[in-house]
Amino acid sequence: MFTCDNLGVNGAGHLTFAGQDTAALAAEYGTPLYLMDEDRIRQCCRTYLRAMREHFPAGSAPLYAGKACAFGQLYRIMSEEGMGIDVVSCGEIHTAARAGFDLANAYFHGNCKTDADIAYAMDRGVGAFVVDGAEELDAIEAEAEKRGIRQAVLLRLTPGIDTHTYEAVNTGKVDSKFGSAIETGQAETLTAHALTLRHVDLAGFHCHIGSQVFAEDVFERAAAIMLEFIASVRKEHGYTARRLDLGGGYGVRYVADDPVLDIAAKIADVAKAVKDACARLDLPEPAILLEPGRSIVADAGLTLYTVGAVKHIPGYKSYVAIDGGMADNPRYALYRSRYTCLCANRMAEANELVCSVVGRCCESGDIIQEGVSLPGGIRRGDLVAVCTTGAYNYSMASNYNRLPRPPIVLLSGGKARVAVARESLDDLTRLDL
Ligand code: LLP
Repeated sequence: MFTCDNLGVNGAGHLTFAGQDTAALAAEYGTPLYLMDEDRIRQCCRTYLRAMREHFPAGSAPLYAGKACAFGQLYRIMSEEGMGIDVVSCGEIHTAARAGFDLANAYFHGNCKTDADIAYAMDRGVGAFVVDGAEELDAIEAEAEKRGIRQAVLLRLTPGIDTHTYEAVNTGKVDSKFGSAIETGQAETLTAHALTLRHVDLAGFHCHIGSQVFAEDVFERAAAIMLEFIASVRKEHGYTARRLDLGGGYGVRYVADDPVLDIAAKIADVAKAVKDACARLDLPEPAILLEPGRSIVADAGLTLYTVGAVKHIPGYKSYVAIDGGMADNPRYALYRSRYTCLCANRMAEANELVCSVVGRCCESGDIIQEGVSLPGGIRRGDLVAVCTTGAYNYSMASNYNRLPRPPIVLLSGGKARVAVARESLDDLTRLDL
């Protein structure tokens, strides 16, 4: 039943998360409530750090992709663990900086950075830019020249790999809106251009093939394609890339029939593919960067809701409506993403009601999950837990229907602390002039 070992049941028949009673947490902090298991986050970071240190050359590092979830205390955890970060906006840069994160270890992504974004990131000392195309490269050259610096960059390339994930999160294909394609020759043209720029220090190349990826060997294939490109650039231009960033994407377990990925073993497989390709191509091994987001925070998150209504439509279906929905978790509405839903205060009861768990927004598409099994007696006031919500829930939350965003409570070593406060009604009107 459980997708991660930080879930359990106590003697009261309540769901526990990170060893704590979720019903007690709901009573103390209210619902909807995002819980995050800090110990699990640190454990996931250490798995990446240890495996990358063991298998890849010096200078290799995991960069936490803050798009999965970003708030001050999370960046503090990343800093304490020695992770680098991938940032995609001035908002993420500002949040990380305010938390004391050393931005020299930040990589700035995005396919449409404005001149203002570029200037802001440079002024704050962001370590490297991951450049999407020629216009951005020229804008970086101009801003770096003004400051009299040489800005480290990676060029984002598309290796042309289809990961067979859902289209909306599949980015490594040739026709992607991201990066420059190797296949069309645009990657090479961009590289040649970068090498002519005096204020740009080309550190290497980047690719990101997709998200929630389980497919056997896609990272190995991407690494091989990227290294072949690096070898051809070395031959044509005498330039040898120092870093290769293979992006993020490892999948996590949302439901019991999703596989469990052994990240350390996956990293060892990628390392072997990198070594083999470098030996075959007679290349020095570049430092390898990975950008995990989901696999660092997803199963460290759980959302708690209170049931407001249970509606049975005889001969049709049953609904369990909760006090949150697509505003705090838009992933079913966007991607039909699967989730495990549990009745947190009735874990000892049989789940005999098949229902749709729906949100409170004024929209039929506001669904958290369909075909969920919950206790037959579930009623107003009961608690529904949605598991594995640590990635792309808080970060994609909105104030749709003028709903305040839930707080984030961090759980660690049996203690709980609020890391992000619940939005108030006044927060909602704060910017109204
Ligand atoms: N690096 C780059 C360049 C990315 O675009 C992404 C995710 C990552 C790293 C992190 O990938 P992860 O390890 O988290 O899979 N909102 C969607 C996911 C979009 C992913 C976008 N890019 C969802 O909720 O499933």
